[in-house]
Amino acid sequence: MRASQTLQRALAAESASLPADVLLRYVEGYFADRRRYLDVLGKDPSPLYVLQPQILAQRAREFRAAFEKVLPKVGFYFAVKSNNYPEVSRILLENRFGLDVSSGAELQMALGLGARDIVFSGPGKTCEELLQAARHADRTVVLLDSFHELDRLQQAASSAGCRVRAGVRVSVDPQGLWRKFGISLEDLPAFHQKAGNCADVELQGIQFHSSWNLDPGRQTAFMKKLGLALSASPGEFLASLRFVDIGGGYWPSQGEWMQEAGTPAGMVRKAMDVPVNSAFAHYWNPARSIDVFAEEISAAVRRHILPLADCRICFEPGRWICNDSMQLLLSVVDKKAPDLVITDAGTNAIGWERFEIDYFPVLNLTRPALQERPCNIYGSLCTPHDVWGYSYWGAGLEEGDVLLIPMQGAYTYSLRQEFIKPLPQVVSL
Ligand SMILES: Cc1ncc(COP(=O)(O)O)c(C=O)c1O
Repeated sequence: MRASQTLQRALAAESASLPADVLLRYVEGYFADRRRYLDVLGKDPSPLYVLQPQILAQRAREFRAAFEKVLPKVGFYFAVKSNNYPEVSRILLENRFGLDVSSGAELQMALGLGARDIVFSGPGKTCEELLQAARHADRTVVLLDSFHELDRLQQAASSAGCRVRAGVRVSVDPQGLWRKFGISLEDLPAFHQKAGNCADVELQGIQFHSSWNLDPGRQTAFMKKLGLALSASPGEFLASLRFVDIGGGYWPSQGEWMQEAGTPAGMVRKAMDVPVNSAFAHYWNPARSIDVFAEEISAAVRRHILPLADCRICFEPGRWICNDSMQLLLSVVDKKAPDLVITDAGTNAIGWERFEIDYFPVLNLTRPALQERPCNIYGSLCTPHDVWGYSYWGAGLEEGDVLLIPMQGAYTYSLRQEFIKPLPQVVSL
């Protein structure tokens, strides 16, 4: 009974349509740079990832400025997992970001790039990874995920012969899906006590992370809970706190753009085997600007954290920083019908079946036009889920045409996988 009500509610839920003027503004902007993108293909063949370093640097400056304006002591760490192309991290280091790494491989890359300020977070760090971090304790703060990890970090620090700075991750959702991350807030005093017995670990901070935030509500609500837990903590713990790291999860300001299958009603229809996704139906969850995130987060920090602990507030943005700094260029290889083309790249280039649920405009750079036309645009993998879109912007679509799919910088390049087709190279524009 409850299940059928939930399904009916989902089916009845109306998702907002992506406003035509918002979409058109983006399409026009990318078409305006059409020549520059096409020139790239003069030197390198498609498919390609195009990295735009100026956009990346600009986003780094905007993010930093938004929070520096409203908080006294701040630190910024780019979440390498969101785009692990080394040049992306290098540019962010140049823009005075530190790096947030989540594996030995990412740590190795950060060290190789000369990063001097690294946070190492994530569940299930191995003894080897902890030892690697301990050997570079002057450059790395380990954000611990459990009591056992604290034991293993103490062993690693002792065998590396150095004292390691650490923080502890607290779970924002100790009962649900996110339970696997960190410890619960109630366990903070016990964790502090245990860390006090670890001669080679210096517990200096707290980290949390909540994902997919179109607005800062979840982050500020958790800060209130954290403030309550801290106010019940021993004074010496509060005095030892040098940072509170509030993680990533800031949605880029263009908001979330979806195909019908990405909406609640579309998910239910798809599960019921009702056809979903059409050429012109695009949906939208608007996101707040980074200035609104900064204002509301800083208000919560001033209210709940700073009165208790005079510490630095750290940020680990990924998606917000790199999302629009990378685009994909592909070409049409085969026009099998007026409404069906195959391109030279497969979605192994981005690692997941993204475009069945997310909408991004497919722009025909060869025949530009501010008009969207229906066409099923597939990749060249041996799976029907290898889809780029159900429409394109242009005056027609023929074999050899060059297509651009914008805003593919976050959770695409780092998820790419060797599968059937070779992986595209990256070129910087
Ligand atoms: C601990 C942590 N920090 C930061 C990030 C980056 O999040 P986003 O790319 O949404 O900003 C993630 C993403 O999974 C994460 O797990």
